Amino acid sequence: MGSPQVIPLRAALGARIEGLDRADAANPEITAFLNRVLAEHLLVVVPGDRMAPKQMRDFASAFSKLKPQVLRYKRSGEVPEVSVMVSTLMADGTTDKTALRSEDWHTDDSYMAIPAKATLLHSIELPSHGGMTWFCNMHSVYEALSEATRRRIDGKCAIHAYDTSRARNRPSQRTAREIAETPDVEHPLVRTHPETGRKALYLNFNRLDRIVGMDREESDALLDELAAEARNNKHHYGHAWTLGDVVVWDNRATMHRVDVDYPMGESRIMQRVLIEGDRPH
Ligand SMILES: [Fe+2]
Repeated sequence: MGSPQVIPLRAALGARIEGLDRADAANPEITAFLNRVLAEHLLVVVPGDRMAPKQMRDFASAFSKLKPQVLRYKRSGEVPEVSVMVSTLMADGTTDKTALRSEDWHTDDSYMAIPAKATLLHSIELPSHGGMTWFCNMHSVYEALSEATRRRIDGKCAIHAYDTSRARNRPSQRTAREIAETPDVEHPLVRTHPETGRKALYLNFNRLDRIVGMDREESDALLDELAAEARNNKHHYGHAWTLGDVVVWDNRATMHRVDVDYPMGESRIMQRVLIEGDRPH
């Protein structure tokens, strides 16, 4: 086993790991190495061959316990912790809505009381061009806010819901059981990263409905101001996918979005795994 190299990306976050055999991820030294790189860089790109769902589950286990996807129809049959995300644009307009919903900045699972700590995405089929995934460093967004704005939001909580009128697009329909599993939740607007102690703004343009203790107008104005900082590309990294890539990101201190700019009818299929997290604080 050669020793893997960490190459920081020339962007606001992220590192690439070269020379790693993903099959070694269960080795305690490699497990510790992967988690260290993720905590430091918030996003890790691990290039390699395409993996079957079982191999992906085994690799993802290096980042802690896996959590099954809420929406049953997205679960891959053989391995329920691995979801198959089809974002192919269909000429007949039957595109999976997830593709459009993911077009705006979000962090996975924030509508849950205990959101996913991290997400892994693995490219299985890619269109000939387009479909980049963008990531935003929410530590640097928080640090870029004015002192006065930080004073306004420190200690505030916000309500995250499966859907909100603030989101550009509507999410997939839930079954009655899935609705019962996903009531609205409250999270702090500013999170402290449990491993590094750094503060991060905790936003989600698809789920964050309002700030607790403010009327809708005041809350919308403040959320728009925070969103404007997060949209500044000095906080971003754009990942152009190569087949077989695994990208792992820390949902506690990043947001992500996808460019839905790829050709109609060309397959875009990813496997996704969510890693269990803790209650935000
Ligand atoms: Fe996502």
